[in-house]
Amino acid sequence: MRTVSWKPDGPAVRLIDQRKLPAEVTPIDLDTPEAVAEAIRDMAVRGAPAIGAAAAYALALAAATSQSKDVAGLWLELQTAADLLRAARPTAVNLGWCLDRMLRTAQAILASGLDEVKAALLAEAEKIADEDVAVNQAIGRFGAALLPPNATVIHHCNTGALATVDWGTALGVIRTAHESGQGIYVLVDETRPRLQGARLTAWELQQYGIPFEIIVDGAAGYFLQRGPVAAALVGADRVAANGDVANKIGTYMLALAARDNQVPFYVAVPTTSIDLSVPAGEAIPIELRPPGEVLELAQAGQPVSPPGSHAQNPAFDITPYRLVTAFITEVGVIRPPFETGLSDAVQRAGTG
Ligand code: MRU
Repeated sequence: MRTVSWKPDGPAVRLIDQRKLPAEVTPIDLDTPEAVAEAIRDMAVRGAPAIGAAAAYALALAAATSQSKDVAGLWLELQTAADLLRAARPTAVNLGWCLDRMLRTAQAILASGLDEVKAALLAEAEKIADEDVAVNQAIGRFGAALLPPNATVIHHCNTGALATVDWGTALGVIRTAHESGQGIYVLVDETRPRLQGARLTAWELQQYGIPFEIIVDGAAGYFLQRGPVAAALVGADRVAANGDVANKIGTYMLALAARDNQVPFYVAVPTTSIDLSVPAGEAIPIELRPPGEVLELAQAGQPVSPPGSHAQNPAFDITPYRLVTAFITEVGVIRPPFETGLSDAVQRAGTG
């Protein structure tokens, strides 16, 4: 089952509810764009490519359920839904990229009539989802070729099938390496506070039969120092034009520890996560999430801190480009200097 899809007898967007994993694999069907926006905000669906695809399907849903009698009314509804979805999470650029692509699709066919716009939007959302899977498989092939046989790798957050439509980016590299028989073992950062590593990556690796152990985030330096670790592998929510990387909080510290121990630090990204309009990482908006995610254990509402404690909870951080060994994209591996490499890749992929 794909992480994000169109309910076969729609109109609804079907998601695997990631808040319930690994205890339950529960699909949920959402029948309004508002419900999809809330699912993104509350992280029932998460991971940059997955929230982009969910938002694309949500616009197809807005069209399919529209009561407008003319295309002007439908166009207004689509814009309102896109604004709501765009605001759901600010850091991943895929969200806005998918919404803009959907709006362009609608605009190009608006004069043809209501039914044509509805059909075109659903077809475009399906195309975005299919492309995501193909892109991830290409990333997997390029990335696996960088790893030595029987590599031990450190992975942060969840970048697998659950963070995409299917297959995954950094975890897709791991999966490709495993399936090609080259042998791979994964140290899984637990990824405080939402535990995407301990809950989601561990669950995925178990499904694929890939050997792993979970480590606390603070232990990554210990393992990098003792070695041998062949590579640190992460995804990205947004890559600036200069190669600075916004990714799950803790990525920067992992990159520092990797550099200090001469371990390659690879960022696996679809070119849709490269934002050439942002010159450097400091201009990328960082989402601040509720302090309760830090002050309480997972989502159980069980406090870990003394009552009255305060917390800060940035969801992402910026890893400076100088700590990145290479980007692994669907059009190939990009090594420094990143500025030209990234813009060439976007151009070659046609995703600018
Ligand atoms: O807060 P999340 O779980 O949405 O954060 C996800 C990440 O940071 C991933 O590394 C990133 O989106 C890439 S997923 C292929």
